[in-house]
Amino acid sequence: MENNNIKVAILGLGTVGSGVYKLLTQQSEDFIWKVGSKLEISKVLVNNINKQRSLAVDKEILTDKWQEIIDDPEIKIIIEVMGGIEPAKSYILQALKVGKHVVTANKDLLAQYGKELFDTANSQASDLAFEASVAGGIPIIRPLKQCLAGNKIEEILGIINGTTNYILTQMTYGQVSFESALQEAQRLGYAEADPTSDVEGYDAARKLAILASLAFQSRVTLQDVYIEGISNLTLADITYARELGYVVKLIAVAKHSEEGIEARVHPMFIPYTHPLASVNDSFNAVFVKGNAVGEAMFYGRGAGELPTASAILGDVIDVARNIVNNCTGRIACTCFYQSNHKNIGEINTKYYLRLQVKDKPGVLASIAGVFGNHDVSLATVIQKHRNENMAEIVVITDYVKEKHMNDALQIIRGLSIVAEVSAQIRVYSND
Ligand code: NAP
Ligand code: HSE
Repeated sequence: MENNNIKVAILGLGTVGSGVYKLLTQQSEDFIWKVGSKLEISKVLVNNINKQRSLAVDKEILTDKWQEIIDDPEIKIIIEVMGGIEPAKSYILQALKVGKHVVTANKDLLAQYGKELFDTANSQASDLAFEASVAGGIPIIRPLKQCLAGNKIEEILGIINGTTNYILTQMTYGQVSFESALQEAQRLGYAEADPTSDVEGYDAARKLAILASLAFQSRVTLQDVYIEGISNLTLADITYARELGYVVKLIAVAKHSEEGIEARVHPMFIPYTHPLASVNDSFNAVFVKGNAVGEAMFYGRGAGELPTASAILGDVIDVARNIVNNCTGRIACTCFYQSNHKNIGEINTKYYLRLQVKDKPGVLASIAGVFGNHDVSLATVIQKHRNENMAEIVVITDYVKEKHMNDALQIIRGLSIVAEVSAQIRVYSND
């Protein structure tokens, strides 16, 4: 009897690969009904074939030889969950070039080499699916590409890094320092041993590049994203935020206007009343504004073995259905335009500022004068005595162009009455 199984290979058997293996083996009967054909794991590629693994995988299918996979014409779907740029990039390109379909969770690769990969997939009418690359288990790639295709997307705001959201939640509600919260995130397995990519915003920036490319149909790469992390945030600023009616979050922002696309990742004051303000711990959320749908928010687990495998399996089943129905390559790359990218100095935003100044008459007036000369209008000012000679001034501004704010602060830093500008954090406002 002819074997109509759809054969797949999994590249990588770490956190995500193990989850994918479990779902594919434990729910295989369900998938037959969903796809119309059985999904069969032909090979699992690993780096070290002799490694002790807690997951019992059939020895016959475990391999450390890519050639066994690429040379097997029966294998139709490659699930790339190895991570990193190389050899993942070469393997994906080789697979697409011989007409295989690829499902990947690799945001690092897509945020830098998306164009080359998607052009190759398009040229072969192959599927290249990547739901798991942004916000783990939360459906957001397919909603942007398909469900919201009738909209012009105006803005995306995302909490798309679980490690930093966990750290900020601990700082906000547990009043612990950044360092202690980071150690706890590492103990719980949220943060990597080297957490730089999470806490300095690179992980969120990679995911934002992918989201912005989809939302605005124009390629945005990691290099186009302005990035600030959370390692300089202090409890003092988190406490002021609460006093003023905000919470501090690491926000990924993508906007499209006539001047071009702005894509940036940085800490931001979010009003308590905004839905993103209540996204806590390691949860992720993506808030989308479209001209037709209005506001929509997608919320859930942004990482982890089974949540990420959930997104991978959604893609695998979709690709398998396309194979069964002979319609692969149906939804190609949607980057039709080449929009300009807005420089960070050109963005308009409100600011929270915290300054240490001499406590004597006329200081506030001098500072307000500099702001006034640079189009910076002050919405809220709080002044607190610190000791006999020094005071702390906290300011929330109205909207101002970032370059005007930076020019004003350069002058303010040079004033003899100012000891330090301790914090400069952007504030979200939808007015
Ligand atoms: P991981 O736990 O480090 O696992 C990586 C796996 O790939 C390991 O099984 C490793 O083999 C294998 N591998 C690495 N280099 C290889 C090579 N050159 N040849 C063959 N096999 C190789 O990684 P992960 O956390 O599962 O992440 C995988 C991907 O998913 C990454 O792109 C990541 O960004 C993405 N992702 C992860 C999460 C998450 O929650 N972890 C969420 C969303 C997206 P050995 O087992 O032999 O060492
Ligand atoms: N390191 C990421 C996070 C998970 O903390 O959200 C993988 O994308």
